[in-house]
Amino acid sequence: MVLTICYLIGSITFIIGLKMLSHPASARKGNLVAAAGMAIAIVGTIFLYEEEGKKLGNYFWIFGGLAIGTVVGTLIAKKVKMTAMPEMVSLFNGMGGACAALISIIEFQHIAHHLNNNVTANYGLLISIFLGAIIGSVSFAGSMIAWGKLNGTIKDFSYNGQQFINVGLMAVILGIAGYLVFSLSLTNAYWFYIIFVVSLLYGVLFVMPIGGADMPVVISLLNSFTGVAAACGGFLYDNKVMLTGGILVGAAGTLLTILMCKAMNRSLKNVLLGSFGGNKAGAAGSKEQGSFKEIQLSDAATILAFANKVMIVPGYGLAVAQAQHTCHELEKLLEDKGVEVKYAIHPVAGRMPGHMNVLLAEADVSYDKLLEMEDANEEFRSTDVVLVLGANDVVNPAAKKDPASPIYGMPILEVEQAKNVIVNKRSMKPGYAGIENDLFFQPKTSMLFGDAKAALQKLITEIKSV
Ligand code: TAP
Repeated sequence: MVLTICYLIGSITFIIGLKMLSHPASARKGNLVAAAGMAIAIVGTIFLYEEEGKKLGNYFWIFGGLAIGTVVGTLIAKKVKMTAMPEMVSLFNGMGGACAALISIIEFQHIAHHLNNNVTANYGLLISIFLGAIIGSVSFAGSMIAWGKLNGTIKDFSYNGQQFINVGLMAVILGIAGYLVFSLSLTNAYWFYIIFVVSLLYGVLFVMPIGGADMPVVISLLNSFTGVAAACGGFLYDNKVMLTGGILVGAAGTLLTILMCKAMNRSLKNVLLGSFGGNKAGAAGSKEQGSFKEIQLSDAATILAFANKVMIVPGYGLAVAQAQHTCHELEKLLEDKGVEVKYAIHPVAGRMPGHMNVLLAEADVSYDKLLEMEDANEEFRSTDVVLVLGANDVVNPAAKKDPASPIYGMPILEVEQAKNVIVNKRSMKPGYAGIENDLFFQPKTSMLFGDAKAALQKLITEIKSV
């Protein structure tokens, strides 16, 4: 009874926490609320769970594992830079997938042992075990590859016919698993381990070719996989809180995937077949460009100070430079001079969902100044100056105009509609997708080179003297 109440509290806090995560102001507390609920569920299980009148025991192993996990998790989370957050999410997500797969392996051994002793198993149990093993290992292997790609140690790799191989592998996995489950024939246990290995291989091959601007979609998809795999564990153990947690992660990950697909203008089918990627022709700055125009700080300061309306476009570079506070300072300074200042937020700017919202919230930028992409695109026409701070792919017109571009079809912030565009970055190097940006060569655009924080500090000093 007490354990059921613990599970109920856990499930309710997950839902409340998730709801709170949907707004930057309450997100931090939401995370703590859900974590507290998880702690209650874990402690309750360790001390109150009983099977056939026996408590769990094994406390040395349980607390040993908890201690190692807590120390390693805390150290990694404390050390990680904000810009490396997606890597950490991938790594932790992979660990979740691995746990789900390991649970399935252990339970498979139990059940195979029972079946060999002529004890009947039910289909539901077997389906949960196989799904947990398949989805968990795909999620683990895929997340590890995504982790390597995000930190730059693994390069994109694709080959002709990869879609057919991927579909073929999935057919093999589902075919063998289906046969084993419905024939209840577990005497040849090695087939289960073959499925496990092929699923790992599928996870690797599925994520390997995906690159360029498409990683966010695959990361949220892998997140949802881990949720579903954990929910299978919940079915297996008839554990309500594991089931609720898994379903919430699975559903939230799926919704995020759909939203990401919309933001990137990709279909979910392409994602599932692993057929999109950053390797298409037209990538990597091979095109002849004209010349670009550089602007001096004093000129940039004058244009900004005398504008009626300025739109700031934050991107990954702003996060790298940790220039959010300086950016907020510039915003206030311009407003004191009577300039209307707003921010245009692209849904995949930066390296994780909501990255720019979190970054600007950290600097206390008011939420009502942040415009979503569609609204910002309406307002660029009436904007005097767009100040692009460390953004690149999300303002690249090739996404609209160049069918050969790997980001073709991705909705972008149409900054070239404004009267003037000032782009701050350190060089002419490309952004995440590895492609050149026509925007930098357009007559309306001026380049303000330098680290975002240093450039903004100098701009502030200049504007004060205008
Ligand atoms: P990017 O296209 O990655 O461009 C960032 C730019 O910032 C670079 O061109 C870089 O140019 C500049 N930069 C780096 N450090 C800087 C600094 N200290 N000061 C000033 N500029 C600096 O960024 P974006 O426009 O935000 O687009 C995000 C990209 O990442 C998209 O392709 C998106 O699909 C992908 N992605 C997004 C996510 C999510 S969920 N948001 C996850 C994974 C990948 P210099 O080197 O010349 O300075």
